[in-house]
Amino acid sequence: MNSGKTKESVPVGKRLPKHIAIIMDGNGRWAKKRGLPRYAGHPAGVEAVRRVVEVCVELQIPTLTLFAFSSENWRRPQKEVNLIMDLFVRSLKKEVRRLNRNQVKLRIIGDRSAFSKRLQKQIEEAEHQTETNKGLLLQVAANYGGRWDITQAAKCVAERVQSGELTLDMIDEEAISQHLSFAGVPEPDLFIRTGGEQRISNFLLWQCAYTELYFTDLLWPDFNRQAMEAALLDFTHRQRRFGRTGEQVQDQTAEAS
Ligand code: IPE
Ligand code: IPE
Ligand code: MG
Repeated sequence: MNSGKTKESVPVGKRLPKHIAIIMDGNGRWAKKRGLPRYAGHPAGVEAVRRVVEVCVELQIPTLTLFAFSSENWRRPQKEVNLIMDLFVRSLKKEVRRLNRNQVKLRIIGDRSAFSKRLQKQIEEAEHQTETNKGLLLQVAANYGGRWDITQAAKCVAERVQSGELTLDMIDEEAISQHLSFAGVPEPDLFIRTGGEQRISNFLLWQCAYTELYFTDLLWPDFNRQAMEAALLDFTHRQRRFGRTGEQVQDQTAEAS
């Protein structure tokens, strides 16, 4: 653990995560603390997204996945849901130019069929306008749920069995993961949740099997460069064993260097 007494800087290169997933939580509480209605926290949350994307671009992190709206968030008051949807449309329109300037490729993951036609069109346009960018892959999870993801992958596999393309024996972890939302992209190395809760809230259930978890009490709109650097630094101190022993991992690291 970092004692906080010595100021360590974030190391660059291979010790940094290649994929970071974030549950951006605490917008409502941030607004209420300021005497504002809770939905006023969401535009402030967009500012934090910009800051975090900037840090990832600078540090050349290949992939960032942000949880923007869960499949359970439809249960919120209609007014808040409408405002979030409006903000989503406006942000997609507004941010494309900045994303292109930073070579960021945008991808929206989740069940978009529940969105308005207007929002679906906006999503397609933003993805299309950034698709040739070669820098950071920014995945925004909207109407996303980990259980939905696994269920839709299971359906795809079942269809392939039904059509005779696959036999039961051919169903392995690889066959399922091929049909998950971001097949082909390495699984997250680091998972960050702001807002103080220590739960996964139906985010990336399959993909986070071996992800390092990091929780902070900071509310999402307050999450800044310094907070991101603290999370990255913490990550660099973790030993990822993937079922092996600590000694095996140490030997492997020594051989590689
Ligand atoms: C996260 O912040 C944003 C969304 C879920 C859309 P919240 O709105 O959940 O904020 P809190 O947790 O109520 O403070
Ligand atoms: C998780 O936050 C979803 C997003 C940040 C989009 P919630 O605020 O919806 O999670 P719970 O309900 O507290 O678990
Ligand atoms: Mg919340």
